[in-house]
Amino acid sequence: MIFYKAKDYQDLSRKAANIISAQIIMKPDCVLGLATGSSPLGIYKQLIEWYQKGDLDFSQVTTINLDEYKGIGADNPQSYRYYMEHQLFAHVNIDRLRTFLPDGMEQDSKKACEEYNRIIHEHGEIDLQLLGLGRNGHIGFNEPGGAFEKETHCVNLSMSTIEANQRFFESKEKVPKQAYTMGIKNIMQAKRILLIVNGKEKEQILERALNGPITPQVPASILQLHSNVTVIKNIGKQYI
Ligand code: F6R
Repeated sequence: MIFYKAKDYQDLSRKAANIISAQIIMKPDCVLGLATGSSPLGIYKQLIEWYQKGDLDFSQVTTINLDEYKGIGADNPQSYRYYMEHQLFAHVNIDRLRTFLPDGMEQDSKKACEEYNRIIHEHGEIDLQLLGLGRNGHIGFNEPGGAFEKETHCVNLSMSTIEANQRFFESKEKVPKQAYTMGIKNIMQAKRILLIVNGKEKEQILERALNGPITPQVPASILQLHSNVTVIKNIGKQYI
């Protein structure tokens, strides 16, 4: 495991964007596993800047996102498809046909998850998987529980996650209660994992994830078993 301490959020974003850029430059048709939430915003901003300078080309890149809320569509500003469109896709030369997220509007969970697994398998391995860390140790929306979920599945979001994500919604009641997420097996099959951890309030859970017992009660603890993980943490100045 490679571990970097960033001096502030900008430093974290640049370090992570450098790793993603290197991946794209080394393998222009790479498959990137992407995440949403607050932590990657600075990374996407940095990647857009380098694209605009002419240093990056997304034309052959494929992206497969970790998760999507169930029950909201691409035109809903709270959906992860909308987030990706506005924070990255619309600003770079990526082919939308190569960008994938679970279909939040598919009400049939089994169908939605099978289809997403099919997409993941069709693309072979994910070259680089970007992960944020939930306050309760979740990765993707793999919430603490009795077992590590294997592949894409539908989850009931925990109260801690609903409370953490309510900042993006008008009220707690408006936060969807379910989501489709890649499973731990999908995540662990990525060739390389980049975990970004921003915020002093995540320091303790990061410590449990990296140095505590491997348990589904702390889903990120499974990363101890992956052979190629880079962690970048910022517990200094928050956001830009
Ligand atoms: C988002 C995702 C989540 C977030 C995590 C941290 O696609 O999969 O696991 O990475 O909830 O969110 P932030 O970065 O908002 O603290």
